[in-house]
Amino acid sequence: MVKKNAQFIKLLTAIILTTICLFFPIAIQPAIATETASSTAIYQQRTIHNPDGIGKFYMGREIAKVMGYEGAGWLERPSRGLEERSTRLVNNLDLKPTDIVADIGAGTGYFSFRIAPLIPQGKVLAVDVQPEMLNFIESNKQEKNIANVEPVLASFDNPNLPENSINLALMVDAYHEFAYPREMMQGIVKALKPEGRVVSVEYRGENPLIPIKGLHKMTQKQVKKEMAAVGLVWKETKDFLPLQHLMVFEKQTPI
Ligand SMILES: C[S@@+](CC[C@H](N)C(=O)[O-])C[C@H]1O[C@@H](n2cnc3c(N)ncnc32)[C@H](O)[C@@H]1O
Repeated sequence: MVKKNAQFIKLLTAIILTTICLFFPIAIQPAIATETASSTAIYQQRTIHNPDGIGKFYMGREIAKVMGYEGAGWLERPSRGLEERSTRLVNNLDLKPTDIVADIGAGTGYFSFRIAPLIPQGKVLAVDVQPEMLNFIESNKQEKNIANVEPVLASFDNPNLPENSINLALMVDAYHEFAYPREMMQGIVKALKPEGRVVSVEYRGENPLIPIKGLHKMTQKQVKKEMAAVGLVWKETKDFLPLQHLMVFEKQTPI
């Protein structure tokens, strides 16, 4: 009887062990799958992160918090032109009078209103996600009596621009804040005309002495990597600005 019981326990143990061996991999499969999916996903969310960021990472970089419309005064500060050589920036965009320019993350329209007179037969689409910024642009437009600036409300993952409609997408001090950089850039690339260009102007991440928060700067290497991910080809970097690098990208021409 004791022998029979021992045999039964052995058999039961074998069945339990076999069951565990067969089903354990299945049980952990979703966990492995989730882990793999999250590490290869476009974005990663981390709980420990820079307080200036949103805890969301893209291609090794943490995305910065959006600068609220309360910061409009800083964007329009009188010293800005001299500090950042803004006139030099717009004069080096190689614009044609008929160009359609999308100023993505336009803020108060600081650059939109400086570009508009250079493209008298064209227009600037001043794109932003904050309606308050667009209201600012609208009232500035009336005040300055500049007709060829059109405010466009974007969503966080879509610039809301028609396909094949723009010659240039300019992003000054804005791209590092895009919560969905991949989707935004895909929308921008679609909106570019075949010979269209993207110009990225970011504070130099390579220079720790530039007095701007880390997440609000970008290195050239990082910008190139992120633009290449949406099929944009780096053409040149113009290094004539005191604090930022101006990088020019082109749409890949189909062979
Ligand atoms: C630091 S401000 C720069 C404004 C302007 N380019 C300038 O240099 O004066 C960044 C702007 O980008 C806008 N922004 C952030 N995410 C955006 C998105 N996904 N699409 C469009 N604009 C966005 C913000 O609302 C903010 O007005």
